[in-house]
Amino acid sequence: MEAVVAAKPIIKVAALCGSLRKGSYNRGLIRSAIEISKGINGLHIEYIDIAPLPMLNTDLEGEGTFPPAVETFRQKIKAADSILFASPEYNYSVTAPLKNAIDWASRPPNVWGDKAAAIVSAGGGFGGGRSQYHLRQIGIYLDLHFINKPEFFLNAFQPPAKFDGDGNLIDESVNEKLKEVLISLQAFTLRLQGKQ
Ligand SMILES: Cc1cc2nc3c(=O)[nH]c(=O)nc-3n(C[C@H](O)[C@H](O)[C@H](O)COP(=O)(O)O)c2cc1C
Repeated sequence: MEAVVAAKPIIKVAALCGSLRKGSYNRGLIRSAIEISKGINGLHIEYIDIAPLPMLNTDLEGEGTFPPAVETFRQKIKAADSILFASPEYNYSVTAPLKNAIDWASRPPNVWGDKAAAIVSAGGGFGGGRSQYHLRQIGIYLDLHFINKPEFFLNAFQPPAKFDGDGNLIDESVNEKLKEVLISLQAFTLRLQGKQ
């Protein structure tokens, strides 16, 4: 007899990367997360590119309107159930491109409100951990709700190599940890929405 797998409600995750560089390890984490999600019932992850966003300048806003790239970005965040941040650490904090994207989507009406979120990071000694704590602090005001566990900080420079030259994750044990983050984000999103 075939096993019957109960369909879960689809959770739409918007995945953002704070690094703009081509071979970004953090974007590599998102690519892996998308691959992993294909094997998770009810989880759909879309990568949202923040590179086209202009630097925030409120002079670019009209009466509740925004430049086209910002409008598109805000709509995608609004439509998502939860957010996956891949947040590199620049000088002990979040990167300027990520903060810029966060600020655009916070302009009234704030489109981050009441969404679940998870943070992963790859970087130097602390694996980007300090950017994660700053991001959590920013998220308080935006009304984002972060999963607490599991934590995911990856030291990208400690051998053996975790990424190839294109920023693709090549370490299977890290892939497993990433999967645990996604399962936790899915469960927390469903709980927040009263569906579990
Ligand atoms: C301007 C700048 C500041 C940085 N500051 C830090 C830092 O404070 N802590 C850290 O662990 N790595 C720091 N790094 C190194 C990045 O974490 C590292 O380059 C990482 O690979 C960037 O992520 P990406 O691979 O996704 O681009 C910094 C890099 C740059 C360009």
